Amino acid sequence: MTELQQNFAAHIAELQNRTHTILERVVDIDLLCIHAGKALSVFLDDMYYPFKTNPHFKAWLPVTETQNCWLMVNGKDKPVLVFYQPTDFWHKVTQLEDSYWTPFFDIKIIAKPDEVTSVLPSIKDNIAYIGAHQELARDLGFSHINPKSIIDFFHYHRVYKTDYELDCLRQANKLAVAGHTAAKNTFLAGGSEFDIQLAYLAAAGQSENEMPYDNIVALNENCAILHYTDLEKQVPQQHRSFLIDAGASFNGYAADITRTYAKSDNEFSALIGAVDAMQQRLVTGLKPGASYVDLHVTTHYQLAEILKQFDIVRMDPQDMVEQGITRAFFPHGLGHHLGLQVHDMGGFMANEQGQVIASPDQHPFLRTTRGIESKQVFTIEPGLYFIDEFLTGLAESKHSQHINWDKISELKPFGGIRIEDNIIVFDHGIENMTRDLGLA
Ligand code: GLY
Ligand code: MN
Ligand code: MN
Repeated sequence: MTELQQNFAAHIAELQNRTHTILERVVDIDLLCIHAGKALSVFLDDMYYPFKTNPHFKAWLPVTETQNCWLMVNGKDKPVLVFYQPTDFWHKVTQLEDSYWTPFFDIKIIAKPDEVTSVLPSIKDNIAYIGAHQELARDLGFSHINPKSIIDFFHYHRVYKTDYELDCLRQANKLAVAGHTAAKNTFLAGGSEFDIQLAYLAAAGQSENEMPYDNIVALNENCAILHYTDLEKQVPQQHRSFLIDAGASFNGYAADITRTYAKSDNEFSALIGAVDAMQQRLVTGLKPGASYVDLHVTTHYQLAEILKQFDIVRMDPQDMVEQGITRAFFPHGLGHHLGLQVHDMGGFMANEQGQVIASPDQHPFLRTTRGIESKQVFTIEPGLYFIDEFLTGLAESKHSQHINWDKISELKPFGGIRIEDNIIVFDHGIENMTRDLGLA
């Protein structure tokens, strides 16, 4: 067996084990029918939105683009894959070919979506449907639909990545880093946001629909818009700054990387350097047993130091954090789990039963609160932005006197900074997949 086959075998064994464990616990369910999903149609049209498969389906196998597929798993028997392969001269039909993963499934081909009825057991009393299409599930006779106890169990365990999954995440990073390199060059060559996006996609070798999330490609003030996805086609009069938050997909696993660049050496480029150095310090805080919430709070203290050092806020860093001033410059969470979903599930779970560890009241946008452990994969993505809404709030507050408004005016045209890497935590230390690929 190749290493890939060995890793895949271990991955399937782990999923079988998880399935077996939860089905032993949930007494009235003994089989899961996991539906890949079906493409959603555009209202009053014969077009469809891009198909995104069910993450619980793609967890088992690298089939991400074929709709109407099903998996039948009970954790003991060989998983059954119902693969949709229509006879269709309108569309490209994905022909199933032998691959490293196919021997792990008992494969049944269907040519029409509703042929699945001949494969599914007719009595569904002890079977759960796992998928997005509840109406279809009811029409097919399922009464157990996405039982919370089962979904919670899988989400709880999903944060522990198998070696196969770690390799997929490394591959996704590799594609994204190729895109980021091309994007930076296109920025330096004076391209528009749209030009940069095209260069990114070409270098990553993926279409927009294959991206795990909408790329954020922002120039100048647009860098301050946290979810900026507009993509101006016009080249701006001046290139000052560039923030790109863009990923790639590999076998259904996501990369999620952000870089910020300045066109010239100036105060803003120095500020990028300071945020970048802080980001690399924070990455080293990812250790088994450490708390991600604490790391997020630490970020605010380190950011306060930067705000003081760059004479943006004239206040003791401790007070700055306590008065909530750093939150005006860094309003989002430090990062999140990464995997089959960009914001991977399970980050708030206290246990397999799905009890939730809430985010602290002062940090509502933090996306993970559970303890850091080996084999978990995170992003670390601190930022520092000049966002109108928060600056207005500061100007109208009692803290206004401590803000160096001249400095803010100088830096505001650059928008903001975010630096984001994808990191694996091991017992023996971290692996920064993004930096290891040479992305500075
Ligand atoms: N690109 C989404 C995020 O960084 O969380
Ligand atoms: Mn991102
Ligand atoms: Mn992210």
